[in-house]
Amino acid sequence: MIRNVGLRIGWTFFTLFICILISLLVLLLHHTSAANAQPYPHKTCNFFRGSWIKDETYPLYNSTHCPFIEHEFNCQGKGRPDKAYLNYRWKPHGCSLTRFDGRAFLKKFKGKSIMFVGDSLSRNQWQSLVCLLYTSEPKANYNATRVGDVSIFTFLDFGVKVMLDRSVYLVDVVREEKGRILKLDSTEGGKLWKGIDMLIFNTWHWWNRRGVAQPWDYIKTGEKYYKDMDRMVAFEKALHAWAKWIDTNIDPSKQLVFFQGISPSHYNGTDWNQPGVKSCSGQRRPLSGSIYPAGLPPALGVQKNVLRTIKKPVTLLDVTNLSLLRKDGHPSIYGMGGRTGMDCSHWCLAGVPDTWNEILYNLIL
Ligand SMILES: *[C@@H]1O[C@H](CO)[C@@H](O)[C@H](O)[C@H]1NC(C)=O
Ligand SMILES: *[C@@H]1O[C@H](CO)[C@@H](O)[C@H](O)[C@H]1NC(C)=O
Ligand SMILES: *[C@@H]1O[C@H](CO)[C@@H](O)[C@H](O)[C@H]1NC(C)=O
Ligand SMILES: *[C@@H]1O[C@H](CO)[C@@H](O)[C@H](O)[C@H]1NC(C)=O
Repeated sequence: MIRNVGLRIGWTFFTLFICILISLLVLLLHHTSAANAQPYPHKTCNFFRGSWIKDETYPLYNSTHCPFIEHEFNCQGKGRPDKAYLNYRWKPHGCSLTRFDGRAFLKKFKGKSIMFVGDSLSRNQWQSLVCLLYTSEPKANYNATRVGDVSIFTFLDFGVKVMLDRSVYLVDVVREEKGRILKLDSTEGGKLWKGIDMLIFNTWHWWNRRGVAQPWDYIKTGEKYYKDMDRMVAFEKALHAWAKWIDTNIDPSKQLVFFQGISPSHYNGTDWNQPGVKSCSGQRRPLSGSIYPAGLPPALGVQKNVLRTIKKPVTLLDVTNLSLLRKDGHPSIYGMGGRTGMDCSHWCLAGVPDTWNEILYNLIL
């Protein structure tokens, strides 16, 4: 009997001990996974899933108050007659975005550097961020300059640098005796990205360029040269080289890394159930709801697969889905080329890239 009670007490203590051990283990695991987690403050809400709603308190700035918008994005300046496209806010399912606050952003990044790396869609987002910050502090001192391929906008009172490195493929294009070589394994250009506090990368639009618009003569991978190859395969190889650069060079305790995703174009109305429509010209409102009839571009799947192989934390700024709905957001004839051009790839500013930056802001708050 006494032995039995002793045994029972022994068992109770043993069970308690195991319970505490398990709790400690769970706590420990939870802690390590939180340390490795990507910067999603609202784990229950996916900022990239939602719909566009009318909101007269948008846009976030008046484009005439931002003198840095280049003519190719300055739709109102170029005479775009309609304005309704400016008054939309992105509303994620299950939560609302915190409105972009330029002053809070500048304070958070005091003394720090931000760099966009990529093609003209990166320039689009870079100019948007410069305008968002500048219009919030229009009296602040700044310095806008360019060094080589890098454009630098410095908010001098805050010591915040907002930079753009034009690198359309992220991997190198090098001139050799044979001609211009697109080197899929080479990221020498990455020397400019070292030590930057926040990096936002992007590449896609140039991979399908051919003829005179193609800025290389051969592709090199390993020791082999190719006159051409499947462009999606080349794109994926280059992304893997970039991924390797990230894993080798990024210090996650000091640096934040984002990838812009695929910024979609709107040249074929069949994609949004308007067959016969051959451009974004005259589109005055976004698609309602959350579904884009043509679905997501295949290149996004390639990006996502490569991002999964990276060991360092990189957040996909998954702008594709929300931007697909904005067939009304492009300059069309009020951008580069003017009346004779038809730009359904870039975005008007103010406009859609402000939302990309507003989401970025919500991710790093
Ligand atoms: C934008 O600013 C200009 C110049 O200050 C002003 O004339 C215009 O009404 C403003 N637009 C809006 C929508 O507030
Ligand atoms: C602006 O930047 C350029 C290039 O770095 C530099 O030469 C110039 O002194 C800067 N101006 C100010 C006011 O800091
Ligand atoms: C538009 O897309 C549809 C469906 O993918 C395709 O059949 C059509 O040829 C495309 N039109 C143009 C002008 O590319
Ligand atoms: C976009 O997001 C919605 C949810 O908001 C989802 O239902 C849809 O499948 C996604 N993709 C496309 C191409 O619409």
